[in-house]
Amino acid sequence: MSATKVLVLNGPNLSRLDLREKSYYGDISYSDIETICLVGAKEFGFEVEIKQSNDESELIGWLHGAADSKTPVIFNPAAFTHYSYAIRDAVVMLKAPCIEVHLSNPLSREEFRHTSVISGVVQGSIAGFGLDSYRLAFAAMSKLVK
Ligand code: DQA
Repeated sequence: MSATKVLVLNGPNLSRLDLREKSYYGDISYSDIETICLVGAKEFGFEVEIKQSNDESELIGWLHGAADSKTPVIFNPAAFTHYSYAIRDAVVMLKAPCIEVHLSNPLSREEFRHTSVISGVVQGSIAGFGLDSYRLAFAAMSKLVK
């Protein structure tokens, strides 16, 4: 039987992590996210597709595609986490599990990051473990979909 595919979606500014606050993101680069996702997918027996966009409408289009194909999603919505009801509404339409991930712990940062409009409509959230947040999401996903 072929492996279940997981779609990993990454929101705005994650493509430029190496230029962002070192105190939150250390020396992580976007290609490190891609690598940990390939490693996590292999470890837990998934096929994986990894995408990043700075554009809300593009992310919503990918979520619609995942809903139509019943694909599980690991999602770092980045700053959209905190205010995008349009993305939240698209997540609600997913048919397979969705796990929210963050590299940093938004609850230990500025107050506007303490709200996630996404957390209430996903299976669970993993935050604050750096790159390992993604690996932990694959571990959690394997329990949810296998
Ligand atoms: C982030 C946390 C968000 O608050 C922030 O806007 C990001 C990255 C994280 O992975 O820690 O861009 O989602």
